[in-house]
Amino acid sequence: MRKYLMSLLLGLFVAAALSPVALADAVAPDPGCSQMLVNRDHLLVSDYVPAGLVKLSDYMPAGSSVMMTREAAEAMGQMIAAMKADGISDIYGSSGYRSYDTQSWLYDRKVNYYLDLGYDRSSARTLAAQVVAIPGASEHQTGLALDFTTSDAGLTGSFANTAAGKWLAENSWRYGFILRYPKGMEHITGYIYEPWHFRYVGKVHAEYIYRNGITLDQYYEQLSRETVITYQSVSGEYYVIYLNDYNNTASLVGTVLSVSRAYADSQLGFNITAIRPEGDLFDIVGHWSENYIRQLAALQIVEGYTNNTFRPEKNISRAELITLISRVYDLLYPNGLDKDSREYIEEILSAEISPYGDVAPNAYYLEPLLKMEKAGILPDRLLTGAADAQPRFLPDTAALRQDAALTIAPLFRDEDVAEGGGSFTDMAGRDQELQQAVDLLADAGVLTGNPSGTFAPDNDITRAEICAMLCRVLMYFRYI
Ligand code: DAL
Ligand code: ZN
Repeated sequence: MRKYLMSLLLGLFVAAALSPVALADAVAPDPGCSQMLVNRDHLLVSDYVPAGLVKLSDYMPAGSSVMMTREAAEAMGQMIAAMKADGISDIYGSSGYRSYDTQSWLYDRKVNYYLDLGYDRSSARTLAAQVVAIPGASEHQTGLALDFTTSDAGLTGSFANTAAGKWLAENSWRYGFILRYPKGMEHITGYIYEPWHFRYVGKVHAEYIYRNGITLDQYYEQLSRETVITYQSVSGEYYVIYLNDYNNTASLVGTVLSVSRAYADSQLGFNITAIRPEGDLFDIVGHWSENYIRQLAALQIVEGYTNNTFRPEKNISRAELITLISRVYDLLYPNGLDKDSREYIEEILSAEISPYGDVAPNAYYLEPLLKMEKAGILPDRLLTGAADAQPRFLPDTAALRQDAALTIAPLFRDEDVAEGGGSFTDMAGRDQELQQAVDLLADAGVLTGNPSGTFAPDNDITRAEICAMLCRVLMYFRYI
């Protein structure tokens, strides 16, 4: 996934680099907001001015005209005091808030610099935009970014080697700041490595971004894709960063640490709510699948990870899939296996051998796998390998949606399911066994159509999706 994301962002960057002035729609965030993504795909309107700008020199050594928002300046003051306590005081704030017009002037100046070197206008613009943001795309317009200098390092790579530059790179996240344009991320941020440019995002977000080695651009991408991000802070606190509709925090269980209106593009305005959760499986709080997962957890069909998370958007391995299915099977058919099958399984387990080429005798999923094979639940196609060798199960491979359908459908073996479920637009041309499985599950209400009317058989199935399906199976059989 990360690779995919990188190539996606790389593609965006290349496209943007080729035409730096092909612009996205601009947004007008709440002026008091500290959560926003500003880059050349996410522009600020020209008259955006942050609220509550204060003189930074009241908080740390800085030029007399340097301004930041009060929240950012206060955090900056605390950070620089901590740096000083560590013996580093050669640090200076040189550029904070810049208006749209100032940014235009800086950008034009950079374009002229490259024109003077002999580049044509298009190349000059492209090169300039990798160093100075085009107007509307600069974080400096947010009042949340600051360029640092020291007595002998200005806005050059040498800032990274100063005591202050090193300290900031390592510690700024503790105070809510991130190094916004890191080395090695140029293809994602679209800018050269800027060891001097720090952006205030707040502590909860800064820690996540720093510890995962991602950029703000990737963080927003991940949030909008996964809806919820969870982590345990080094302070021991658990955080759920939850992307939701405005004022829709009622379902969150825990102490709300912050709710901030966030902006990523002209379509996407949302809250980022940071909560310290109570209870277990906290990362499903508010997720569409929460109810399904909690019901399966109560029946001990699923469990979370040891750190109390469930990771609903993560895919599941075939080993996990077969284990979950076997637990549901046990509930539905407590005496489902005949005597011969039970004895066969007992023998294999007590002899500590495995009939599968890639399943260890002590693997937790060996017993579920044996049971499901004997019960006729395991589809043949999930076992592969040469005819004269032990079959292979590929236990660590991500289960596909079709694997789930083929494995769940046989649970309805004795049922006379009424027809009338959905028909999916992307199932034509698939083999008959799969078509029948999908139709049956739709008829039984286990699969509900998605808005596009597709089943997406070749996609990985997520932990949330498999829970929803299994829960609906148990609802069909009136177990819940
Ligand atoms: N130098 C940074 C990218 C800016 O102009 O905002
Ligand atoms: Zn800067």
